[in-house]
Amino acid sequence: MPEASLATMPRHVAIIMDGNGRWARARGLPRTMGHKKGVEAVRDVVRTAGDIGIDYLTLFAFSSENWRRPEAEVSDLMGLLKAFIRRDLADLHRENVRIKVIGDRENLRSDILPLLLEAEETTRNNTALTLVIAFNYGSRDEMARAMQKIASKVRAGLIEPQAITPELIDAHLDTVGIPDPDLIIRTSGEERLSNFLLWQAAYSELVFVPEFWPDFNRDLFLSTIETYAGRERRFGGLTAKPALMGQ
Ligand code: IPE
Ligand code: IPE
Ligand code: MG
Repeated sequence: MPEASLATMPRHVAIIMDGNGRWARARGLPRTMGHKKGVEAVRDVVRTAGDIGIDYLTLFAFSSENWRRPEAEVSDLMGLLKAFIRRDLADLHRENVRIKVIGDRENLRSDILPLLLEAEETTRNNTALTLVIAFNYGSRDEMARAMQKIASKVRAGLIEPQAITPELIDAHLDTVGIPDPDLIIRTSGEERLSNFLLWQAAYSELVFVPEFWPDFNRDLFLSTIETYAGRERRFGGLTAKPALMGQ
């Protein structure tokens, strides 16, 4: 397969990494083995994103609704995140990757939050790929928290209600400063957003692939980018814009 050409590269790719459990079940393995294998796919995709010059890669790692899963699975997922940051932070830093975490940071386990903050702090001045980790993230929760911040400012007389524009709302979301995703990929054949970047996805191109997340790799990633490159983005207008005009 040819490499996707630079001219049609999305600037921001966001991925709903789904299907770890089904990948494991298909092999008669416990779900946790699927999550473990999923981390390898994360490494592959982060490397590929850096290689092909994507500016922002957002990975949905744990949703605000994933707490509904059995305690043992939640605990496995937390353990894997911790292990990933401990093991990979130095490499990512060396590769000039900047890490940013989105999601609610309140009430996170005391062994998780410091690691996330360390990852952000260590890599804050890096200039290659920005890796956005959506952890304890839910779009409705993010919007509710943004509205609370805005409402407090209105009550304090700092802003008028009329000043609440889409741009002001953007500025109060966890994703402040990050361009909207050009391309959102979901693996595992499910075709829904599951509370991921609902506001930011207004004009994102959506690509659903049947493979389970642990099977996602460089070639599949490149082929989703090729699919994206064939899409025509209009942003509500009439003039067809090539995908590269994204933002
Ligand atoms: C995605 O795989 C990983 C997380 C949601 C953390 P799942 O665990 O949702 O796997 P399936 O969808 O049950 O197969
Ligand atoms: C979305 O997947 C969350 C992550 C990938 C972290 P889920 O597996 O939680 O979504 P639903 O429940 O199938 O919609
Ligand atoms: Mg799932």
